[in-house]
Order: sequence, then structure tokens, then C-alpha cells
Amino acid sequence: MNSLKNKNIVIGVCGGIAIYKVLDAISRLRKAEANVHVIMTKDAQEFIKPLTFMTMSNNPVHLDIFDPVDERFVEHIHLAKIADAILIAPATANTIAKIANGFADNLLTATVLATKAPVILAPGMNSNMLNNPATIQNLEVLKSRSFKFLSTNSGFLACGDYGDGRMAEGIEIYNYLDEFFTKKDLAGMKVLVSAGPTIAPIDPVRYITNHSSGKMGYAIAKRAKYRGAEVVLLAGKLSIEAEGIDNVIRVDTADEMFEAAKEIYPDVDAVIMSAAVSDYKLENVYEDKMKKTGDDLSLKLIRTPDILKYLGEHKTKQILVGFAAETKDLHHYAKAKIESKNLDFIVANNVKSKDAGFGHDTNIAEIIFENGENIQLPKMQKVELADIILDNIKNLYKEID
Ligand code: CTP
Repeated sequence: MNSLKNKNIVIGVCGGIAIYKVLDAISRLRKAEANVHVIMTKDAQEFIKPLTFMTMSNNPVHLDIFDPVDERFVEHIHLAKIADAILIAPATANTIAKIANGFADNLLTATVLATKAPVILAPGMNSNMLNNPATIQNLEVLKSRSFKFLSTNSGFLACGDYGDGRMAEGIEIYNYLDEFFTKKDLAGMKVLVSAGPTIAPIDPVRYITNHSSGKMGYAIAKRAKYRGAEVVLLAGKLSIEAEGIDNVIRVDTADEMFEAAKEIYPDVDAVIMSAAVSDYKLENVYEDKMKKTGDDLSLKLIRTPDILKYLGEHKTKQILVGFAAETKDLHHYAKAKIESKNLDFIVANNVKSKDAGFGHDTNIAEIIFENGENIQLPKMQKVELADIILDNIKNLYKEID
């Protein structure tokens, strides 16, 4: 489900040093097949030439009301009408002040005044300018008029100061728009997604784990959130950032994951266990760092709790989805897991196939249902697979409702 495909995003670019980040956002939007139309203020053109934005957006750049790109149209009205959203980035203190006061003294402010589309501002400026009472008041005015904002980040600023005012990164702008345009078809649902590997400590400096990166679980959590669900991400040792997920519970071991899952379980409508949970742990974890000796070493491992099995045994209303990462006899093992863990369906994949499973951005999976039906899916991005898993959960949820 590509929410940005064919969307007309008008991007108003102002004169601020964060302007370079807008190019990254445009590149990402174009990859998602959005139509990007750039308006540049005069000050913006002091930083980067329109040619760069024209090339990145693959569209003419709009600069002046009186010098239209297409003479058939009244420029600002045309852009105001075709926009599915207007993004202003970097939104400078000056442009924010003008918009808050209803000015229409350049193509960008005139377009904003003329539009009925949602307007999203990504402010970027020095901390003192951002915290000036005039800017604070202008931002309040715009908030009260339902303008939307991407929050600024704190950090090193181009002027040498350290503080608030850094404009959101290109990826954050892209994610915001992606979420903004995603249909909220899972609103009202609460889901628990586990992701990544757990570890089994040996001593204070060593542990046993597996190759799981957490990409699949993160993709599910992100798409569920974008689609309006309330999401809890139960994360083992992820090798990626869980960017954009507000409720992340971080655990190390299978026991910790088990405790956290048990606590949240009664409140949720669905659980998707994509974590690669350690099946074994050390019977006795060494308190101090082990020292090598001349002898070989054996470690005694004992079983960890099977989290999904426990959840299956205590199921009330929850839809339960498991994962089966196998290297052979995929169907046989996956079906046995559905039964033993009382699952609604399982997502099975052969981790030996190229471009599938641990660490990859793509997966080749098969969804096998409790009644024996199955869907064989082609190779696809993990976010696409995440949407298919969520579609199937939604169908089951509707049946229960
Ligand atoms: N799982 C779990 N608790 C465990 C182990 C696994 O909840 N202690 C979950 C996984 O998150 C996954 C599913 O169970 O959704 C995988 O089933 P499982 O039979 O445990 O698979 P493996 O751990 O791969 O086991 P095996 O080595 O027997 O194939």
C-alpha cells in the first residue's frame, strides 16, 4: 500500500541552511511515486539554484507569481488547487510570521492563503529565533488554525550555537508524509509486535544470540502505527532504530520478553511475534567474566519459556500470529507450530533462500492459516509483507467484531 503514489505534494522552500535536507526528502518522495512541485522563495534561491530542485523533483520550479511556469494558469491558484498537501521546509521565522498574519506577498504565501489543502511546516532556525515570543506566538496562531508541524530537533546548529531549532531530517519529513497519507483502517485496534533477537548471557561480557535484525517486526509496527493502530513494540536487541514508534519496550532476554508480553497481553487485540526468541539459556550465568583454561568448555543450556505457546494457551479475544523461520520442511514445521501454539496464522519463510529472512530488506514468505489455507507470496519488501500480514489480521478482527 503506497500511500504517496500520485499524490501532489507542493513543497515551499524558504531561505534557511537546512534547505539541503529538502533535497533528500524530495528524492524519497519521488521514489514513492509522489508528484513533487517546488516553490522557492527569493531567499531560498540564494542558497541553492532552482535547477537543483527542478532536477530532483523532475518538474519545473515555481518562483514568481508574475512569471508563471505555465501561462494558462494563475500560478498560485493552480498550485493551491492541485495540492494534496503543502509542505514548507525549511519554514523560516519570516515565512511563519507572514503566514500567521495572512500575507500573500510572494508565490509561496499566496499559495498557502489560497489553498484548502493541509499545510505542514518543518521549521528550521536558530534557537533564539525559535524561542522568540514573536515566533512562539505566530506558531500558536498557526496551530490554532490546524496547520501541522514537524517538530524541530536539538543539536549543533549551523551558526555554531547548540540548541533547539534544527529542521527535521529528510527521512523524518518523508515518514511524516507517508503516515499522514496512510488510510487509518486499523484505528481502534491495539497490537503488540515483538521484534529482533533476544540474548542468552554467558557472563557479563558474552552472550549467545541469533542473526535477527528486527527489520520485519519494525516494519509491522511502523505500518500498524501508520494505519492507525495503537502499537506496542517489544524489542530485543535490534540492529536498526525503532524510529517513529512511541511505545517501545526494550528487553534483552527471553525471560524479560516473556514477562513484558504477559503483562500487556490482556489489553491487546492482536499479537505478532516476529522476534527470534532464544529457545535456550544458560543454566548458570557466570557472575564474573570467565577466564580461559587449557581445557575445552561445555555450557549447560536449559529451555526458556515459549512465549507464543503461553499466549496461545491464555487466548481470549486476541488474534495470534507467529513466524516460522525454517531451513527445510517449511509446511510441516509451520503447521505443527500453528497447532501447538494455537495460532490464527503463521508467516513461514525459508531463511536459506536468497533475499529472504534475517537482515534483508526483502522477504519471501508463505502465510498458512489455522484451517490449512495458505497464500504463497512472491519476493517483496518487508514493509509490503507487513501490510499483507496486517490486512489478514484486519479481516480476522472484523469477523470477531
Ligand atoms: N517463540 C516464542 N518463544 C520462544 C521461541 C519462539 O514466542 N521461546 C515464537 C517466535 O517469536 C515465533 C514462533 O514462536 O513467532 C516460532 O516458533 P518456534 O517453534 O519456537 O520456532 P523456533 O524458535 O525456530 O523453534 P524450532 O527451533 O523448534 O524451529
